[in-house]
Amino acid sequence: MKFPYSETVLEHFRHPRNVGKIEEPDGKSMEGSPACGDMVAVYIKVAPETNTISDIKFESYGCASNIATGSIITELAKGKTIEEAKKITWKQASDALGGLPKIKAHCSVLAVEGLRSAITDYEERHGLVKEKIPTTVEAIRKRLKKVMNPVTGLDLVRTNLIKDIYLKDGNARVVIDMPANHQFAPAIKEEIMEKIEPLWDIKKVEVKFTE
Ligand code: FES
Repeated sequence: MKFPYSETVLEHFRHPRNVGKIEEPDGKSMEGSPACGDMVAVYIKVAPETNTISDIKFESYGCASNIATGSIITELAKGKTIEEAKKITWKQASDALGGLPKIKAHCSVLAVEGLRSAITDYEERHGLVKEKIPTTVEAIRKRLKKVMNPVTGLDLVRTNLIKDIYLKDGNARVVIDMPANHQFAPAIKEEIMEKIEPLWDIKKVEVKFTE
């Protein structure tokens, strides 16, 4: 059978570079693709003296293109400054792989989004956000789209688990439509805190459950 992939894609898929997790990363992300539901996690370490990405790893929960593009973006980003790494495009990733079938373009978009979100996470956690846009309820909801409901494997927003979001003077409260003693409640709470707390103008995050 002839694969619709270039030799480079197949090589990266079979021998992906920089696979795994960095313990205590400076920035990390978990991105899901709305097109296929697959996911990619990216972890970065940043050398503060040079502002360069000194280490980067990824974990893929997706297709061959997802694995190959995850692999290639880690190679493209390693050693680059944060500003240079931000400019890496999905087209560059796809070109470096010798092209991807059109139907697989979203796989490279997903990997690049993963890299950009890990950089944003780094900047937020280190007080380096330049564009200080005030956080809104909608911005919080957008972040909650990245928190998975382990019962279904889909995000909290899509599975209608967000009962309410309150925001006042930098205090955010998220109400989840799930009993507090549910086996996944502690994990969901932790993930919500992780996604919302780094926002530059958020002072306190509370997660409440309905029962
Ligand atoms: Fe989902 Fe490739 S089909 S990332």
